[in-house]
Amino acid sequence: MEYLQTQGISLPRLGLGTFRLQGDACRAAVESALGLGYRHIDTAEMYGNEDAIGAAIAASGVARKDLHVTTKVWHENLAPDAIRRAFDVSLSKLGLDQVDLYLVHWPSGGMNLPAIFDTLMELKQEGRTRAIGVANFNLALLKTVVEQIKAPIACNQIEYHVMLDQTKVARYLAAKSIPLVAYCPLAQGRAASDATLMAIGRKHGASAAQVALKWLLDQDGVAAIPKASRAQSQQANLDALHIGLDDEDMKAIAALPKDRRCVNPGFAPAWD
Ligand SMILES: NC(=O)c1ccc[n+]([C@@H]2O[C@H](COP(=O)([O-])OP(=O)(O)OC[C@H]3O[C@@H](n4cnc5c(N)ncnc54)[C@H](OP(=O)(O)O)[C@@H]3O)[C@@H](O)[C@H]2O)c1
Repeated sequence: MEYLQTQGISLPRLGLGTFRLQGDACRAAVESALGLGYRHIDTAEMYGNEDAIGAAIAASGVARKDLHVTTKVWHENLAPDAIRRAFDVSLSKLGLDQVDLYLVHWPSGGMNLPAIFDTLMELKQEGRTRAIGVANFNLALLKTVVEQIKAPIACNQIEYHVMLDQTKVARYLAAKSIPLVAYCPLAQGRAASDATLMAIGRKHGASAAQVALKWLLDQDGVAAIPKASRAQSQQANLDALHIGLDDEDMKAIAALPKDRRCVNPGFAPAWD
C-alpha cells in the first residue's frame, strides 16, 4: 500500500468508504476489508456506523498503529461545545482512544471558522486526534482556512472522479502540499458501467471501476476511498493499483463529461 505523508500522519492512498453501510453488514464489510489488507477506514458521525466499525476493528486483530481511521463532525454540530460532544461520542462508538483524522464534514452558512479550528486544534493537542482536516470546502473556504486561520489541515475530502472536474481545488491543494481525498471515486458506482472505461479496461484485463480508481491514484497527492461491501469488489479495488494507463487511455478519460456531480446537498455553500 502506498501512503501520503501529511501533517505527521501516513495516509494510505486507498481506503474503504462506509457511507450507507450499517450494523452487521458494515461490520462484515470492514472485517473483510481489514482481512484483505485495507488499513484506512473512512466514517462519519452522520453515517451511523461508528459502532459497527469499532466492533470490526476490535475483532480484526490489526495493530492500532497500523490502522488509519477518519471520522467527521456533522455540519449541525460545529459550535465548539457541540464539536466536543460529537467527538466524544464518535470516539466512544469507535472504541478508540484516538482517531487519526477528524474532519469538518461539510461547511455551513453561519459557521465560525476560527472557533471551529481552535476546537479541532485543542483535540489535536490533547492527543485525541492525530490530525485535523476538512471535507467539501470550496476554494474560497480553503484559502481562508489555510492562509488566514493557518490551520494545519491534513486533507480536503471532496467528490472527485473521472466524470467531475476539480482542477481549481486540486491545483490549490497541490500547491500547498495538502492531499485531496477523493470521495465517490467510482461516481457512486456509475463508473463501473461506463462504456469508455470498460473499453480501456478490456485493453488491460481490468474492469471499468479499476480504470476509474487508477486514474485517481495516478495523480500526485490524491487518495481515494471507494465504498465496496463485497470482498470481490474490495479486492478488485486494491488490485487497481497495479494497472498501467497509457496516453491514449488518459485522452479518452479526459474527453468524458466532467460535470456529473453526485452529491450536492442544499445546506452547503455553493461550489464556485
Ligand atoms: N465527505 C463527504 O461529504 C462524503 C460524501 C460522500 C461519500 N463520502 C465517502 O466516500 C465514500 C465513497 O463514496 P460513495 O460510497 O458515495 O461512492 P463510490 O465509492 O463512488 O461508489 C460506491 C458504489 O460502487 C460500487 N463498487 C465498489 N467497488 C466496485 C467495483 N470494483 N466494481 C463495481 N462496483 C463497485 C459499490 O458497490 P457495493 O456497495 O455493492 O459493493 C457501491 O455501489 C463513502 O462511502 C464515504 O465514506 C464522503
